[in-house]
Amino acid sequence: MDDKTHWERVYSARAPESVSWYQPHASRSLALISRVALDSRDPIIDVGGGASVLVDELLDAGYTDLTVLDLARSALAVAKSRLGPRAESVHWLEADVRSVALPNAHYAVWHDRAVFHFLTEPADRDAYVAHVERAVRPGGHVLVATFAEDGPTQCSGLPVVRYSAAELHGAFGSAFDLLSSEREEHVTPAGAHQSFVYCLCRRV
Ligand SMILES: C[S@@+](CC[C@H](N)C(=O)[O-])C[C@H]1O[C@@H](n2cnc3c(N)ncnc32)[C@H](O)[C@@H]1O
Repeated sequence: MDDKTHWERVYSARAPESVSWYQPHASRSLALISRVALDSRDPIIDVGGGASVLVDELLDAGYTDLTVLDLARSALAVAKSRLGPRAESVHWLEADVRSVALPNAHYAVWHDRAVFHFLTEPADRDAYVAHVERAVRPGGHVLVATFAEDGPTQCSGLPVVRYSAAELHGAFGSAFDLLSSEREEHVTPAGAHQSFVYCLCRRV
């Protein structure tokens, strides 16, 4: 089964609050983004945003230029439906982050929680990082969260790559300065504990 079919099925078959990566609040992401996105008009993209409530919370915080990209139309449909009329102020992109055409040097913040770790092939990681380098403006920020070194080896039944903060920063390379990293113990709706690492980098 290809990736798009997998993710479309997940979001069509399961309630958004029941998936293992569900968060009732995207508090850590919101706090870190707020630290670096100082102008409410800063363009922010949530890559593989799925049905996350981060977009709701960024709108609540006053941000006006938001893009949510996801492979799965069914995931974006959940978020749009939840937001109601507020969804019209968000740019929605149904696309694969490895091949999407994004504007050059545009985004002030690139956010990814639990997407980069699915890229188990070096060529896919290279394609992803090349997109970040092109799409994030110089001085802009990249906030990526993956399973940590001691996190699960799979997510949604798919294999993942686990990272320490140094490894995650290393995957992005010298075009990005590491500003900070944090661990988070995520508790899934079923009560399992999953270690995440968040890296906040600045595009040189
Ligand atoms: C584990 S979920 C995380 C969703 C969201 N970031 C969150 O924290 O709730 C992974 C998401 O990435 C999306 N995804 C997986 N591979 C992708 C790709 N190559 N391009 C774009 N989105 C992708 C999936 O559809 C899914 O919504």
